[in-house]
Amino acid sequence: MDQRKINIAIDGYSSCGKGTLAKAIALALSYVFIDSGAMYRAVTLYLMRHSVNLDDMAQVEQALAQVTVEFDVNDAGASVVLLNGENVEHEIRTIAVASNVSEVAKIQAVRDKLVFLQQQMGAKKGVVMDGRDIGTVVFPDAELKIFMTASVEVRAQRRFSELVAKGDAVTLEEISANLKHRDAVDSSRENSPLTMTSDYRVLDNSEMDRDSQFALAMAWADEVFSLIS
Ligand code: DC
Repeated sequence: MDQRKINIAIDGYSSCGKGTLAKAIALALSYVFIDSGAMYRAVTLYLMRHSVNLDDMAQVEQALAQVTVEFDVNDAGASVVLLNGENVEHEIRTIAVASNVSEVAKIQAVRDKLVFLQQQMGAKKGVVMDGRDIGTVVFPDAELKIFMTASVEVRAQRRFSELVAKGDAVTLEEISANLKHRDAVDSSRENSPLTMTSDYRVLDNSEMDRDSQFALAMAWADEVFSLIS
């Protein structure tokens, strides 16, 4: 395989397995994996901890000026998100943060700050980033754009199993309601809504296992490499 560095954007609905696929591709190509959702979650956690009123833009902007979001690698080699230097990887995955993140992700000042950081991370290429606006706003020139989707039932069941395995006390109904709410807000918001343009390749994984998703994505990457080499 040609090892020229490209950027790969993976967008789609909540809990479609974007992160799992993005990590596998990054590992195979020795690229950097970036979970942009973790950045929105970290900012959300900060705003929650400081009881910032989301309707008061002056307060939000003041808070944003105090926030740094970075990535680190833990002892197990996994990427973890740092909020002002603190590893918040576990806390940002709680249902409390999930319930507030869509409202925070609507705010243009939040998006401006995070998109700027994300573009810096991808400036040298060789990045696989997953999110909602990666192929449309962050890297509109990404050489490979994948749009992931799956039925809401399949997604809810997957997320439910993940959280239960971590010991979180959640119900399937709660997860399903949260997913539907986030899909609706993420797709209908005014600022950078989740949208699929014609340059995306669609991956519906409702009935696909991880290996076949990975094989398909790598075949697409190979196609891109052969076109640009
Ligand atoms: O991918 P995730 O579920 O961790 O994302 C959390 C929230 O962040 C999601 O509800 C939408 C928002 N988000 C966004 O608006 N833009 C991105 N690039 C990534 C996530």
